Amino acid sequence: MKTIITDSPEEAAAILNAGNIVAFPTETVYGLGAGICHPDAVSKIFIAKERPSDNPLIVHVADVDQIGDVAAELNEHAKKLVERFFPGPLTLVLRKNPHIPVSVTAGLDTVGVRCPSNPIAHEFLRRACCPVAAPSANISGVPSSTNWETVYKDLAGKISCILRGNPSEIGLESTIVDCSGPVPLLLRTGAVTLEQLQDVVPETIPAPHTEKSTPPKSPGLKYPHYAPEASIVLIRHGEPVTAAPQSAYIGRGETPEGVAVTKKCRSLEEYGRELFSFFRQCDAEGIRVIYCELPENRGLGRAIRDRLQRAAGEH
Ligand code: TXA
Ligand code: MG
Repeated sequence: MKTIITDSPEEAAAILNAGNIVAFPTETVYGLGAGICHPDAVSKIFIAKERPSDNPLIVHVADVDQIGDVAAELNEHAKKLVERFFPGPLTLVLRKNPHIPVSVTAGLDTVGVRCPSNPIAHEFLRRACCPVAAPSANISGVPSSTNWETVYKDLAGKISCILRGNPSEIGLESTIVDCSGPVPLLLRTGAVTLEQLQDVVPETIPAPHTEKSTPPKSPGLKYPHYAPEASIVLIRHGEPVTAAPQSAYIGRGETPEGVAVTKKCRSLEEYGRELFSFFRQCDAEGIRVIYCELPENRGLGRAIRDRLQRAAGEH
């Protein structure tokens, strides 16, 4: 299959509307989309990404008015979170509208809904004939793509089109909050922090860890994620390191002596933005060990820690 690369949201939407799958930029990471009115195209996403079929997709809407096409009525908590954080890097899990194809929700009675703030994503979604189901645009298990070049590397020849935009401003996947029950549960951390969520809905809590035997609240979180080929070593700020050969460092601290590749970040925002592309750069350069500063467990640091700990195989 030839993969068309375009800068035109209109052209990309026309390709999607014809029943094809299209990668597009968002402020979190790049997505790989199919119109939910094209269930065959939704199936193509799972094949292109080599994604297990029991892992549901997030449905992307152009604006808040479109939420009603995807979800059943919003409860009070969901309404408050939509009002404060949409459009933006937040996904809400809501009771689904019955006409959503089962392949999108992997048979769950809920659906993840997100309204991206990226202007190119907005133009693309506005021109799509229906809401767009989209996971991150990467082969399952490897770090999410935060620029169109890595989408191309993973998926060229397997998808119909890449809508080219700038690198993702945030670089970490959206925060996911399950609003389908009486208490909002934080399922995945992201740029909308737990503290910000609790400012709007104080009842919000991190989802309790589920037992291995019960179905996880967020099916995707049971799969290995974000892992580069290099091994990840987590280090606390200021902790001394004796660098291994062919190693790299990312973080805000002092670069350990002897590492071959370094990404010094001036802020947590920069750390989040650069993390996945740095993992991919290290793999391309044959790095064997990546030392990563482990930030404190608050604010955006919570999301970066989560990705680092998963990459290191800690959960
Ligand atoms: O920032 C993002 O969220 C990006 C962009 C493209 O929007 N998308 C993304 O999708 O990260 P994906 O598929 O890589 O991760 C979505 C996660 C998976 O862990 C999936 O299991 C979970 O969301 N999820 C989707 N629908 C769900 C539902 N109804 N209930 C619980 N978890 C759900
Ligand atoms: Mg993903």
